[in-house]
Amino acid sequence: MQLGVCYYPEQWPRSMWANDAKRMVELGISHVRIAEFAWSRMEPRAHEYDWTWLDEAVSTLAGAGLKIVLGTPTASPPRWLIDAYPDILPLRADGTRWNFGSRRHYDVSSERYREECVRIVTAMARRYGKHPSVIAWQTDNELGCHDTIPSYSTAALTRFRTWLARRYETIDALNRAWGNVFWSMEYPSFDTIGLPNLTPTDANPIHLLDFRRFMSDEVASFHREQADVLREFAPGADVLHNFMGFFTTFDHYRFVENGAVDVAAWDSYPLARTEVIALPEEDKARYARTGHPDVSAFDHDRYRAIGAGRFWIMEQEAGPVNWAPWNPVPAPGMVRLWAYEAFAHGAELVSYFRWRQCPYAQEQMHSGLNLPDNQLSQGGLEVARAAQEIAASSVLSGLPPASRAKVALVFDYETQWMFEIQRHGKTFDYQTLAFDYYQALREMSLDVDIVSRNADFSQYSLVVVPSLAVMSDDLVRAIENSSAQWVFGPRSGSRTPEFSIPLTLPPGLLQSALPVRVLEAESLRPTLTPATSLHGVEGNAIHWREHLQPGAGTEVLARFDDGWPAVVSHGRVRYAGAWFDHALHRALLDDAARAAGLAIGTLPEGLRVRRRGDVTFAFNFGPDVVAAPAPANARFVLGTRELRTADLCAWLEA
Ligand code: GAL
Repeated sequence: MQLGVCYYPEQWPRSMWANDAKRMVELGISHVRIAEFAWSRMEPRAHEYDWTWLDEAVSTLAGAGLKIVLGTPTASPPRWLIDAYPDILPLRADGTRWNFGSRRHYDVSSERYREECVRIVTAMARRYGKHPSVIAWQTDNELGCHDTIPSYSTAALTRFRTWLARRYETIDALNRAWGNVFWSMEYPSFDTIGLPNLTPTDANPIHLLDFRRFMSDEVASFHREQADVLREFAPGADVLHNFMGFFTTFDHYRFVENGAVDVAAWDSYPLARTEVIALPEEDKARYARTGHPDVSAFDHDRYRAIGAGRFWIMEQEAGPVNWAPWNPVPAPGMVRLWAYEAFAHGAELVSYFRWRQCPYAQEQMHSGLNLPDNQLSQGGLEVARAAQEIAASSVLSGLPPASRAKVALVFDYETQWMFEIQRHGKTFDYQTLAFDYYQALREMSLDVDIVSRNADFSQYSLVVVPSLAVMSDDLVRAIENSSAQWVFGPRSGSRTPEFSIPLTLPPGLLQSALPVRVLEAESLRPTLTPATSLHGVEGNAIHWREHLQPGAGTEVLARFDDGWPAVVSHGRVRYAGAWFDHALHRALLDDAARAAGLAIGTLPEGLRVRRRGDVTFAFNFGPDVVAAPAPANARFVLGTRELRTADLCAWLEA
């Protein structure tokens, strides 16, 4: 359980650096990330490097005893580079070009830009790769942020055609797989295929999907080119990238394949995230100063799997931010709570964004651990407290890595892309559905691993698949080979990998585990809400509903008021033929969790628990004073049973 901070020495006079480093250490900070936007200072003119300032910053921070994470500066190509190669600026779907003047203004498919990136990263890595205090490297910064993937450039088009030729081998195979006979879309050769933008009406969904698959691979290879350089010149350091919360534009499981990162780091801004995701307005209001209780946990649990057990918070909100529709000050205590929450979910490091609020430029309204005048902010004071508590407790400072949970929730990036390409109903969003299932599990006091469809499921008691557009034989085998209870949500198995409807009808290959056929599917406007009841809980379908025809041996667990089955099951497998309201999702998962033999708790609203090693943590995000569900003989290592808003406790079972 270590603490870090993001620091920008290039934004402050050198005379401040030594004191900053000293104060970081005094605060209990062990790690500092620097340099990820400083290209114009590392190389002020083409091929003229200036390392003097970075040498001094590194030696000042290292001299104070800090461990350094160096960021490669490729998220902010400098003006001279753009002037030399204007094609680096990406093209948007509408054909217009992004301008210089902020950041992330580059085309990930530009081969020229990739060469320039490899060049600057090589120069940096040669200089600092063996420095004993440089213990990790971050590539770029938040790949895809500000909607900078995809790019519709000539470079992207050329590489897309090559990608397609590799995937399909012959143009006939592509035409067949894409169904291009429809509307005379057949292509005579790969070099006649365009990008799927600027078409009068919808482009072919498989064209859009393959473009998304391609762009996802582009992002991964962009990172990979830098990672390869870092492996060569910084062999002892961890390589990572700082991913984002609720971000699905590239496939993170594919991104990390073949050891592309050592740690999955992600950037956690709970208040801002609560404001921007699709949540009921009453939840946004209730949790405006604490963040929704599951919003960070969802990504902690996702990135823990992506990092194969190792994850960091590279940027943790330390106070109000500048980029959400509204940016309140967190409730007193939350900055401390978020650190423990991340640790409870298995984080090795929580690093705050940023050391000091910068009084100029785009992020002047973004807080840090210090105010612009260098006194500790409320967040800074809370970090000091957390650091002292951890240092004083051998239990907290010696926590083992998080172990496997009993419940897995499958999250699948391609499913997100397919249902974005074909929402069919304007309110259908797969990640929102997955989050609703996740919330229900967390309200039941369960620890959850969020995993890919290719995970090893043999040790889980309950596997929840909120939806999975494409079913595979492998997953059907995994169901057969596990002893878990399985819950599948609507639209599972509804498409082939080529974005067609399976001729056996959805849920396609899942039918061999659960005989049922989806005859028709409908999206639901807010006034269409078929009613049903499950285990005594009354509720409605929202957004989406299917007409299920159960096969032999399939049981109907609930029916809609118009007679269609709502939930069906066969052995250990359940299928929900609708997107249900939250109470019904909860009833569905409660039933499956009981069948799986899991111990279920009922937590007061806003309270969450999470176990790591022998320690159970409880966090209160809600407005009321609540009691943590600790046993009578619990030995508290932090706090007490009674929790006010933004408070937490942790205990060992005696
Ligand atoms: C992140 C980004 C940081 C900073 C921060 C502000 O998205 O990585 O550089 O902009 O947001 O919240």
